[in-house]
Parts: sequence; structure tokens; C-alpha cells
Amino acid sequence: MESPKTTNAILLTWVKEIAELTQAAAVYWCDGSEAEYDRLCQELVDAGTFIKLNPVLRPGCFLARSDVRDVARVEDRTFICSERKEDAGPTNNWEAPATMRVRLDGLFKGCMAGRTMYVIPFSMGPLGSDIAQIGVQLTDSPYVVVSMRIMARIGSKVLDVLGNKAFIKCMHSVGYPLANGRSDVKWPCNPENRYIVHYPESREIASFGSGYGGNALLGKKCVALRIASVMARDEGWLAEHMMIVGVQSPDGEKTYIAGAFPSACGKTNLAMLIPPAGFEGWKVFTVGDDIAWIKPGADGRLYAINPEAGYFGVAPGTSMESNPSAMLTMTKNTIFTNVAMTDDGDVWWEGIGGDKPAHLIDWKGQDWTPATTTPAAHPNARFTSPAHQCPSVDPDWENPNGVPISAFIFGGRLSTTFPLVYQSRSWEHGVYMAATLGSEATAAADNQAAIRRDPMAMLPFCGYNMGDYWKHWLSMEGKVAHLPKIFRINWFRKTADGKWLWPGFGQNMRVLQWIVKRVNGQVHGHETIFGTVPDYDDINWQGLAYDKATFAKVMEVDKHNSAREFEDQATMFNKFGSALPPALEKQRQELLAKALG
Ligand code: OXD
Ligand code: MN
Repeated sequence: MESPKTTNAILLTWVKEIAELTQAAAVYWCDGSEAEYDRLCQELVDAGTFIKLNPVLRPGCFLARSDVRDVARVEDRTFICSERKEDAGPTNNWEAPATMRVRLDGLFKGCMAGRTMYVIPFSMGPLGSDIAQIGVQLTDSPYVVVSMRIMARIGSKVLDVLGNKAFIKCMHSVGYPLANGRSDVKWPCNPENRYIVHYPESREIASFGSGYGGNALLGKKCVALRIASVMARDEGWLAEHMMIVGVQSPDGEKTYIAGAFPSACGKTNLAMLIPPAGFEGWKVFTVGDDIAWIKPGADGRLYAINPEAGYFGVAPGTSMESNPSAMLTMTKNTIFTNVAMTDDGDVWWEGIGGDKPAHLIDWKGQDWTPATTTPAAHPNARFTSPAHQCPSVDPDWENPNGVPISAFIFGGRLSTTFPLVYQSRSWEHGVYMAATLGSEATAAADNQAAIRRDPMAMLPFCGYNMGDYWKHWLSMEGKVAHLPKIFRINWFRKTADGKWLWPGFGQNMRVLQWIVKRVNGQVHGHETIFGTVPDYDDINWQGLAYDKATFAKVMEVDKHNSAREFEDQATMFNKFGSALPPALEKQRQELLAKALG
């Protein structure tokens, strides 16, 4: 679109101001059409940023290889610039907004010289739904434009809905001006000067120096989690790092579950789970794989939407065994980044299944053979695919009213101490279980692995003080009549000699079914220090040989290890000072006393 189809004065003035500051050579308003997408993809091919994959094997698919220094989100360069430092809290980087604005103005000055500045109006959430939020991203990266078209609803239709209303201002530059005869590179970026900055009070975002993922596709982590979490606090809802699934029983009854997991815990696989043998007639539907916006409904329940329109999933480890739905989703119209390429123009990554090809081009563009000692795909290589291509997508995935949530599940990667599944005794206890979530980082000297705490899997994504966020969660109890039940799960428990105790993947359905039965009041459990757990006979074992002794091990609650865990949680809680809700410390102390008693 050559000229803006809007009369929104704030938007028009802002675009003009940023074009002047950045000295962009041209301003282009994205209309969001397929023709525009195709044209930009071709321009990316011509520039060498995209490689068109084999149109028979991967129709409509492209491969991008990033700069080797620009491969992931950069948490140490991510800032929450609230007016007061204590509002960012101990888990976020902070800088005074006035100081940061001056610094970023310096970086953005002239940073788009020789480039086009694209204006991307986008809606997180179904367009026009009152749960959706509109943002506008200004960017000098056409890779970002085409990726945003998959991940969000973008273009002229968003401007129509926006009218003259306010929107979330999202500024982005790769920070590689083409001034003074400098020529372009395939993946421009500026790793020395990266900043991912959020101004929560004025609902603004400024990102500089990176073209990769959550650093650059600003609708995702920046808007839908960091800024939205602040809006949610102010307006009485929840913006969470959660997948959403609908579990349907053979009689057609659907129970929706939302779940938060730190990275590398199989969240996308769970979002697209295919029930195993023994679950004939059961089906799991995908509403979302990464983010949930959850609001109280008039009937006293919580309703969730997936604010995104696509998946930005980690490719390595994804296979027809671990996640057939994801594999089928990415057969067409997908942008792959930093995966390896086969000689016939298809994609490949570690864990895709089958034999290693005799020759590949790796993610750095180098020849690769099975003798090469470095991975062919970067471990954070991604696929960017439209959600509607997912074979398990829920018919209600775009329902503007959301889907009713019956359970929240939280899961980390923990080889000892934590049972396969347990349910909280109360909302308060459940919030405590979620707040103390984490995955094992490194094995400590005494073999008790150190846990990297990742409360609600929101550590890098909470746009305000995590202590206040916990208070917000606790306060839901007084506001929502029928709150979801809260569960912790752990697919990753091991034997003393390092073997998995649980088969995982599709077999996780057995645990989901128990959760569904619990929330529907169809099954009892028994109490442990951690919470309510299933008995062996409460789980459907049809189709899986899993004996009582192994179940006892995967469910074991040991007093000594439990006490160590409750003691260890104090290290994180103590960082919060007066922001720590006393209810959470009370939970911790009560459990510690039980474990020691
Ligand atoms: C993601 C993440 O990319 O959580 O979804 O890092
Ligand atoms: Mn995520």
C-alpha cells in the first residue's frame, strides 16, 4: 500500500516522526495481502535472505539463515523501563525511561538510511474481538513483515478496526543503516547494540539490533506477554505463557486446559498431542501453542484466547514421532530459520527422525556430513507456520469469546523429587506451586540438581514486578467464582541410574485424562506433601505396559528431598522483599514443616 489508509492522527504523526528520526529512504504501509506477501518473499529471495525450498516437497516454503550472532531472544538486553525501578522488580533489567529514551533516540537516529520503513498494523487476537489488542510495528526488516503476516492478523483491515483509537507503538530496526556506500548483507543486524525495551506505563516497545524471533516479531513476547501482562494486571485478567488444548472424550465432552512450561519441556508437543492406543474416541484439539489471554466471563469462569495466528516453533527434536501435527502443519507456506537444507531442497534438523543424510548444507551455509561434529541445524532453529494449517486446530481457536478453562497445568524438567502429576489443595496452594516452578539447570556437586526457577514460565516475560504478579494471581480467588483447578506435572523424572521413568509424548494423554476426570469430579486421589495424586488404578493403562512398581517410583514423594526443595525455594522468594505475597511464604513454611515433621 503506497499511502496510508487511515486518518488516525496519532499514527500518522508518529510514522512521520520515526521516518524522520531514522531517515528511512521510503515508508511503506503494509496491506497484509497475499500479493504483498509473495512480492516481499521474492524480494527476500533476490536479496539472498530467503532460499526458496523445493516447491514439490515444501510448497510455499522458504529458508532463512540468520547472522550467527543473532540466533535467539536476548534476555540480558531486554528491559522493563517502568517509571519506578521497584515496578520492574528483581527479575527484570531496568533503566529509567527518560534515560533509555535518550539512549535509543541516539541509536535510532539515521538507522534506516537507505532502507524502507514498513508500517505493520497488527491485531493480537481475532480482528475486531473486544479481547484483541491492536499494535503498529514500524520495522526496516521485510523478514519481519512476512513473519508477522503468519504470526498475527496484519494490514488494512486492522487499520479499519483501529479507526482513531490508541494502539501499542512498536518500533523496530535491525540497526544496520545503508549509509555512506555501505552495501546490504543477507541478515542485517547490530549485535553490539541490541536493546529490547518496554515502557509499560505508556504501552510502548522499542527494539534495536536484532532481526530474530521474539526480539523482532514484536506482537509475540513483547506485546502479548510483557505489555499485555501489565494491561491484564490493570484490567483484571491474565496474560500467560501458556498453550491451550481442548481434550474431547468419546461422548463429545470437551474440557479445556491451559499449561505453562519453561523452554525445552515439550510444550508444543503437548499442545498437539495425539492420544495413544487405549484412548479410542478421545481427541486433543489445539487452541494455542505458546500464549493465552485469559479473562473472566459473565458465568464466573475464565475464558482463554490464543492471541497469535501462527506458530514460531523450535524445529530440532520435532518429528513424526514427537509431534506429527507440527510436522504436518509445516508441510507448506512456512518460513524456516536456521535449519539445515538437504540436497533436494528440503529441510532437516537433529531429531527429525530417520537416517542422517549423507550431505546437507548446515544452518551457517556450510557443507555438512554425518562426520561433521557441529549440529546441522541451530538448536533454536524455528518454523513459522500458519495455525490454521494445524490438523488438530480447535474449531473454536478463533472464537472471540475464548474457550472455558477448567485446569491450569505447570510443568518443569525435573529428574528427581517431583511426582508425575499432583493437584493443588486450594487456589493459594496452586499459585504457590506455579510460582515455584522451574527446570533443572546444572547438576550440583552433591548430585542434587540445581533448579532454575521460572515462575509460571514467565520469568523473561512478566512486564512488572513478579511479586505483584503473584498477588494478581492470588487476587483472582476473590474475583472469579469458578476458578480452574491447578496441577503440576513432571514428565522428566529419572531412575537413580538416569533412565526415564515416564515414556512421555502421546502417553502424556493418560495424565491429561486423569486431570479431566479430577476437574469433572469423576475420580478421587490421595494426599501427599506436594498435593493430591492419583492411585495406580485411577489411570487408564490400556495400551501401555506400565507396572505398579514403576508408577510408585514416578509418583514417589520423599520427605528428605521435599524438605530440600521447600528450603531451596526461599532463595528465590527472598529476592522479593516486601513484594513477596505473605500467602506464598506461608505455604512454603507449612510444607517445609510437614516435610520435616
Ligand atoms: C518461545 C520462547 O520462543 O518461549 O516461545 O522462548
Ligand atoms: Mn514461548
